[in-house]
Amino acid sequence: MEIRTVGVVGAGQMGAGIAQVFAQAGYEVSLFDINAEQVQAALGKIEEGYERLVSKERLDPAEAKAAMARIKVAEVLTDMGPLDLIIEAATEDERIKNKIFAELRPHLGPQTILTTNTSSISITRLASATDRPERFMGFHFMNPVPVMQLVELIRGIATDEETFQLLKGVVEKIGKTAANAEDFPAFIVNRILLPMINEAIYTLYEGVGTVESIDTAMKLGTNHPMGPLELADFIGLDVCLAIMNVLHDGLADTKYRPCPLLVKYVEAGWLGRKTKRGFYDYR
Ligand code: CAA
Repeated sequence: MEIRTVGVVGAGQMGAGIAQVFAQAGYEVSLFDINAEQVQAALGKIEEGYERLVSKERLDPAEAKAAMARIKVAEVLTDMGPLDLIIEAATEDERIKNKIFAELRPHLGPQTILTTNTSSISITRLASATDRPERFMGFHFMNPVPVMQLVELIRGIATDEETFQLLKGVVEKIGKTAANAEDFPAFIVNRILLPMINEAIYTLYEGVGTVESIDTAMKLGTNHPMGPLELADFIGLDVCLAIMNVLHDGLADTKYRPCPLLVKYVEAGWLGRKTKRGFYDYR
């Protein structure tokens, strides 16, 4: 089987980046979001992304145009059923993800591979609610997708070898590098990254440093491209909290307890860059 057509469910920062990268690599992409405005905004961002590459002479203008033309908007989710590969990149909420897979179920082609860009939820559990756990995998991209080299590949307990090999090939074709992770809460990157971010928030909460001093310390002291609080705003504080909750519940260790300040910010609707307010003010 060869993957040619790809459906991306969810047109947020991750879905838009994924669609951009796949179309550039030659795949026919369908993009769906329950919010039509979100899809239009994603198309704008993707076009800007290609323009940026063209301006740096990393992409030929004709190729950029062809890539853009390979992205179609799916009017309804079920239109994606017959595609070769579906990448779910919707909100980090298990009920929403299950609902998407359930809605797709009667429309799926027999060969369709289902994947999820979940950053922390059990692949085995999500797979078990579908009709094809053997053709289901975790396919975890990093933000910003066009820039970050890594894709985590996570097999559920039932994922078959053919599916795994096909996705490894897809990662190569889009020019990225795969790291295989076992199906444990938050896999590799977020198992390590999120406790660091949570600890930075505790450092702020306990008054050890200010937002600026914590970020400066980590940027200049450990050569991280962004400080942990700036990175938390970039990822989204709701996403950070959701991942910490998965770690805390799944590994039952108090070291993963979400910092109360993180909880409070999320309750206030201060979710970082996307709401223009988080640890920094973007207004
Ligand atoms: N789309 C396309 N290209 C982009 C981009 C985007 N959204 N954002 C930045 N770039 C490109 C720029 O064009 C630039 O390219 P060149 O170097 O080739 O000119 C390059 O990336 C660097 O960008 P900038 O100079 O504008 O800014 P920067 O040097 O501050 O880098 C950054 C921005 C790449 C985001 C950098 O700050 C960084 O790497 N931050 C850390 C990101 C990170 O850790 N991501 C993982 C988050 S965890 C995750 O995603 C997992 C999860 O499940 C939560």
